Amino acid sequence: MVPQSQDKDDIKYNESLKKIITKLKKKRNAVIIAHNYQRDEVQEIADISGDSLALAQAAVRTDAEVIVFCGVHFMAESASILNPDKKVLLPVVEAGCPLADMITPEKLRAKKKQYPDAAVVCYVNTSAEVKAESDIACTSSNAVEVVKSLKEKQIIFVPDKNLGRYVQGQVPEKEIILWEGFCPTHIRVHEEDVIRAKKLHPDSEVIAHPECTPEVLALADHICSTGGMFKYVKQSKSREFIIATEAGMLYKLQKENPDKKFYLPTQNLICANMKLITLGWVAHSMEKLVYEVKVSYEVIEKALKTLEKMLKVTGEHKDAAIAGY
Ligand code: 13P
Repeated sequence: MVPQSQDKDDIKYNESLKKIITKLKKKRNAVIIAHNYQRDEVQEIADISGDSLALAQAAVRTDAEVIVFCGVHFMAESASILNPDKKVLLPVVEAGCPLADMITPEKLRAKKKQYPDAAVVCYVNTSAEVKAESDIACTSSNAVEVVKSLKEKQIIFVPDKNLGRYVQGQVPEKEIILWEGFCPTHIRVHEEDVIRAKKLHPDSEVIAHPECTPEVLALADHICSTGGMFKYVKQSKSREFIIATEAGMLYKLQKENPDKKFYLPTQNLICANMKLITLGWVAHSMEKLVYEVKVSYEVIEKALKTLEKMLKVTGEHKDAAIAGY
């Protein structure tokens, strides 16, 4: 699928890059993994695409020597923690996650002192050092399941306050201590945007990512991870959907459901970090074998336990829209 904004030269350029990438994939024995928020053309060349959990699981399963991670830094870092013997490349080193930067291990240690009986659940959108300070990780698709699995009543949930609030609503028997973090992309969806979109497309179902604000989530017919959205749309009898998450989702939703229509509640749902990765940078990354994401041995040991506990709770991930499996 080619974005409409591309002119003929762009298309030709992308086609030649795709050929280069295919050759490099063989030469390097590499697998290309892409998050659902990546540019259309990057998702197109990926061997595996999916949500955060699906990608973490794909990273565990792959037997390729090189993992080219088209996503943001914490995702490549998790792949590296789960595969310490493999070369994990992030094509653009600046592709970070502002939400992950809203917590540090020092601040988390201080919070743990305040609540000594609480378990710490960290969203995967955190650094390896924060994971190393946590008891268990979670993604947006398994956060409720992870929190329910814990024996502790008090849970320090970091760093996304909106996901934390959503989990609290689903697991009222726990006391969730929230962190003041948020995703700068998801909080750009306002209640009025959803109401306006619903007026324009009255037969649509509203599907929202749990990183959206509680006001937006209250208007949603269904709340789920990006991977969960594919599954939901496929089985729904509705023909139209308002998708409250990053714009990259529309590429595969439209491709997999050509007879259905998808609308964004507002046009500014773009994660600038995700969009830093282009075909040119992917080719550059595979040619030069840059930028390798490495985590120190002592951090890996602890962060790996945190991620593995999550994978154990989740078991086989059913919501994942994984291409290539
Ligand atoms: P998913 O796990 O739903 O793909 O979300 C990842 C993310 O970073 C959302 O901002």
